[in-house]
Amino acid sequence: MPTQSSIRVAARVGGFTYAIRNIVAEAKKVEAAGTRVRYLNIGDPIPFGFKTPPHLVEAVARAVRDGHNGYTASAGIEPAREAVAAEQTRRGMPVSPDRVVLTSGTSEGIELAIGALADAGDEVLVPTPTYPLYTAVLGKIGARAVFYRTDPDRGWLPDLDDVKRLITRATRAIVVIDPNNPTGAVYPQATRRALIDLAEAAGVPILADEVYSELGFDGHVPLLASLAPDAAIISFSSLSKAYLAPGWRAGWLAVGRTDRLDDVLAAIKKLADGRLCSPGPMQYAITAALTGDRSHQREFVRELRRRSELTVARLSAIPGMKVSTPHAAFYAMPQVSLPRGVTDQEYVLGLLRATGILCVYGSGFGLPAEQGFFRVVFLASLEQLGEIYDDMAQFTERFLHQ
Ligand SMILES: Cc1ncc(COP(=O)(O)O)c(C=O)c1O
Repeated sequence: MPTQSSIRVAARVGGFTYAIRNIVAEAKKVEAAGTRVRYLNIGDPIPFGFKTPPHLVEAVARAVRDGHNGYTASAGIEPAREAVAAEQTRRGMPVSPDRVVLTSGTSEGIELAIGALADAGDEVLVPTPTYPLYTAVLGKIGARAVFYRTDPDRGWLPDLDDVKRLITRATRAIVVIDPNNPTGAVYPQATRRALIDLAEAAGVPILADEVYSELGFDGHVPLLASLAPDAAIISFSSLSKAYLAPGWRAGWLAVGRTDRLDDVLAAIKKLADGRLCSPGPMQYAITAALTGDRSHQREFVRELRRRSELTVARLSAIPGMKVSTPHAAFYAMPQVSLPRGVTDQEYVLGLLRATGILCVYGSGFGLPAEQGFFRVVFLASLEQLGEIYDDMAQFTERFLHQ
């Protein structure tokens, strides 16, 4: 018998990191050692008691009972694609249903679009800090994430000069995440307009991640393409956040109406054929969500705003910490002024081991580790958050003066 050695793993896996989940392994160790862990690492409202609207649950249950359990068309069922097209059109991005593809969450939409646009060695502009799926997907296909700066001292707005400077002949797309995870930023119209102008001047499409557009604290955030319906923009969203159903993996993408994107649309559909379809029964909930009652969003956004206010008040009162005010979603990105030579990961792991509070370090979102940023998900109740911030304050005081 030949020696039994381990089966080799593809080298590209080495380039694939996803801090939001990777850090859970550390938390499990802390839990095994007897400390209760408070998970503020993942943007899922369900474990914090928020409920999927009943009419969406019923739509899925009915679809299953009625026997809609086979594969669907790879772009998704017609009524849901019509509902997405009508919704995008109503919100200022006029598209026909044949430019909509239903996907397994926003995540798969992003992966399909990047797969259709970028080859190994190509570049895609991604904000820092970024939602880490972008770097992970680009790493997997051997394309390069080129980071443009967003400015914590200006509410985490993109540095437009940096974007301009970084666009090259190798640039295949610009990612815009607005409202933003991990910062909670919402961009003003002038910034959005400038991003579109830069992209259009370079002939590069924008990948508009709009999964939080219905969770703005001051009302719905307009779709990026509503500023320029003929610009090359692909919009992504899902039922995960604003419709409280992240586990269903029910998402969509809409490809802007310009014929400059026709080949990209065809490529996305070709790639989508290979995975057969997104989960079938959940597609029925997309129709129900976009044509039915959305009153749950009022209550959800009210709760988020209260949590955001508490988060900003409590964290900015901690000596050595500052935080920029979020305007949407359930994330804040505080910064702790670390002693020289200490990393954000050391602070976050220290916090976890001492208090059981699990956050994600800023370097997991592409920020320099010495800058001391970390992300807080503020979905827990006000009471729980109050206790968490008490513990964080005590730990930070000790950590900064040790
Ligand atoms: C900016 C952003 N894009 C995409 C996703 C993935 O969402 P989905 O569940 O729709 O795949 C998330 C999830 O946290 C996100 O924050």
